[in-house]
Amino acid sequence: MKKILVTGGLGYIGSHTVVELQNSGYQVIIIDNLSNSSLDVLEGITNISKTPPAFERLDLRFKADVADFFKRNQDIEGIIHFAASKAVGESVVNPLLYYENNLNTLIFLLQECNAYGIENFIFSSSCTVYGEPDSLPITEDAPVKTATSPYGNTKQISEEILKDTCSISPLKAIALRYFNPIGAHETVEIGELPAGVPQNLVPFITQTAAGLRKELSVFGDDYPTEDGSCIRDYIHVVDLAKAHFIALQRLLSKHNETQFEVFNLGTGRGSSVLEVVNSFEKTTGEKLNYKIVARRPGDVVSVYADTKKANEVLGWKAEKTMEEALASAWKWEKKVRSIQ
Ligand code: NAD
Ligand code: UD1
Repeated sequence: MKKILVTGGLGYIGSHTVVELQNSGYQVIIIDNLSNSSLDVLEGITNISKTPPAFERLDLRFKADVADFFKRNQDIEGIIHFAASKAVGESVVNPLLYYENNLNTLIFLLQECNAYGIENFIFSSSCTVYGEPDSLPITEDAPVKTATSPYGNTKQISEEILKDTCSISPLKAIALRYFNPIGAHETVEIGELPAGVPQNLVPFITQTAAGLRKELSVFGDDYPTEDGSCIRDYIHVVDLAKAHFIALQRLLSKHNETQFEVFNLGTGRGSSVLEVVNSFEKTTGEKLNYKIVARRPGDVVSVYADTKKANEVLGWKAEKTMEEALASAWKWEKKVRSIQ
C-alpha cells in the first residue's frame, strides 16, 4: 500500500480527500496543527472510510519538526499539500503570517522531498491567480495577473517555487487551481467549518438559514452580468477531492507530460450569487433573508473554468450538481447546529 502524506488533512478539502484516498486503498498520514480544524474530523473520516488515518499534530512552520517527521517516515511516496492560511481579508491585515505559513511550509516540505527522494507532489492552488480574467472561460494558459491580496500572492509564488524546484530535481508536481469549493460529504460526517463569521458565500447562506446570521448581504447587483451579481464556478468538494486522487495516480504512474503541470478544477459553469440564493431556496425549501448591499472591494465580476484540460488530459470531470452541493451543505449545517 502506498503511503501518502496529506498536510492540512483535517481541514475542509483535505478531509474529503483523505476519505477518497483511503477508499481507494492508499495508506494516509495526516499532518495538521489544528489552527483551522479540530480532532473531531478524524472521527468523521474514520466513520466514513472505516479506517483511522495516521495523524501527527505538527506545525509545518517549524523546520526541525518537519525534518524529524520525515526521518521517521522515510516510506512516504507522495505528498498532497493543503496546509495553508486561506482568509483573503486576514492576509491583507497580516501579510507576514501568510507569507510565513504558506511559503515556509512549502519550502520545508520540498527540502525534505529532495533529501528523501520523494518525487510526487500535489499542491492546492487557486483560480485567484488569474485575477480579473481577459476572457471566459478561463484556460490554464490565461496570464497570471498581479495578485490583489497577499494570500493570492502566496499561491502565485508557491507555483513559481514548485516550477523552479521541478526544473532542477526529480520532483514532479501538479498545481490544482480550485474554483469555488462548496458542499459536504453525503454522510455529513465531514463538511466545512469556518471559524467565526464566514467570509465565503455558501457557509454564510447556510448559517443565515440556520438562524445564526440575520441576513445575507449580496455584494452588488450592478455588475455587468445578467442579474447584476457576480459569477463564480461552484464545485462540489467531493468532486474536487476525487481530482486529487486522480492527479496523484497520474504522477505515481508517471503519466505526467511535464514535470510541473497545472489544472483548473471547476465545473465550467458560472452561477451568479442570486442564482445560488434561488437554488438554495428551491433545493432546501428554506426561505433566505437577504439584502443587496454595496460591492465588496477586490471582487472580480465573473470567473469560471475552462475544464477541457482537466477533462481530457487529467481524465477528471466534475459530476455533482450545484443542487446536490447546496443540499449537502444545508444537511451539514443542520447537523452541526443540531437542527431537526
Ligand atoms: P482549511 O483551513 O479548512 O484547511 C487547511 C488545514 O491546514 C487546516 O486544518 C489547518 O489547521 C491546517 N494548517 C494550516 N497551517 C498549518 C501549518 N503551519 N501546519 C500544519 N497544519 C496547518 O482550508 P481548505 O479550504 O481545506 O483549503 C485547503 C487548501 O486549498 C489551502 O491551501 C487553500 O489555500 C486552498 N484553496 C482553498 C479554497 C477554498 O475555497 N476553500 C479555494 C482555493 C484554494
Ligand atoms: C474568495 C477569494 C479566493 C479564495 C476563495 C476561497 C477573493 C477576491 N477571492 O473567492 O481567493 O480562493 O474565496 O476562500 O476574496 N458573496 C456575497 N455575500 C457574502 C459572501 C460572498 O454576496 O456574504 C459573493 C461574493 O461577492 C462573490 C461570491 O459571493 O461574488 C463568492 O464569494 P466567496 O465565497 O467569498 O468566494 P470568492 O470571492 O470567489
